[in-house]
Amino acid sequence: MAGRLAGKVALITGAGGGQGRAAAVLFAREGAQVVVTDVKVEGGEETVQLVRTAGGQAVFRATDVSRAAQVEAAVRYAVETYGSLHIMYNNAAVLHRKDAAVTNLEEDIWDQIIAVNLKSVYLGCKYAVPEISKAGGGSIINTSSLAGLLGVGNVHAYTAAKGGVISLTRAVAMAYAGQKVRCNVICPGAVDTPMMAHVLHGSNPKLRQSFEKSHPIGRLGTPEDIASMALYLASDESSWVTGSVFTIDGGSAAQ
Ligand SMILES: NC(=O)c1ccc[n+]([C@@H]2O[C@H](COP(=O)([O-])OP(=O)(O)OC[C@H]3O[C@@H](n4cnc5c(N)ncnc54)[C@H](O)[C@@H]3O)[C@@H](O)[C@H]2O)c1
Repeated sequence: MAGRLAGKVALITGAGGGQGRAAAVLFAREGAQVVVTDVKVEGGEETVQLVRTAGGQAVFRATDVSRAAQVEAAVRYAVETYGSLHIMYNNAAVLHRKDAAVTNLEEDIWDQIIAVNLKSVYLGCKYAVPEISKAGGGSIINTSSLAGLLGVGNVHAYTAAKGGVISLTRAVAMAYAGQKVRCNVICPGAVDTPMMAHVLHGSNPKLRQSFEKSHPIGRLGTPEDIASMALYLASDESSWVTGSVFTIDGGSAAQ
């Protein structure tokens, strides 16, 4: 298939819904062969169906991003299935209902959140870098959040993990630039996905309105808003871009 990602193989974590699904559909439409991974099998398989219905190529691999052996196996599966790996999109994360401000945050909850939201990115980079390098170069895209830049809210494990993702992105970018492995990070504002459903579509409509107002453009983000940025970073159009932090947030961080 022709397109901005023709001839490229992409692995996307957390692609069973939300932003990861939108990226899988867009990357495949632009010619990539996509390995959809998620801890939720049903969501991942649905994404593959969406890609195939649109005429693209994708396969699903069940993967818990906090488990080294599973991330390593997913990268191996991508290479065995499609021959190489050019794009690793470390997108999966959780917003845990027991996350809290530090004085109310239990140690085991901290450990769980850091494992899924930060250790996962280390694992994704660890196993993808050698394969991307072998393929002659490519792109790692990590997902942080405005929370990783601004220290807002009372979800302190999430915030710390997302701050760590930004630092790790810069370090990986510096370490592997010579091997043509680029690494960049996206910091979304509030995006209307299942992660935010309890806030944006809950019983209090004023909460959604206040989120909308906090973005100068006056609306929430869509998964496609973020996927467009990821497409640029995945493609060779961004070949001089590495170690960079992209806020895609309707103007929030500029206030
Ligand atoms: N939605 C927002 O407002 C927002 C804002 C800033 C950043 N983000 C970040 O964007 C990324 C995508 O989130 P989203 O909004 O699409 O949310 P989402 O909940 O719709 O998607 C996250 C996906 O990750 C998967 N996942 C969760 N734990 C996993 C695990 N251990 N292993 C593998 N997959 C796992 C989920 O099953 C889900 O499909 C996340 O990194 C999130 O932190 C979201």
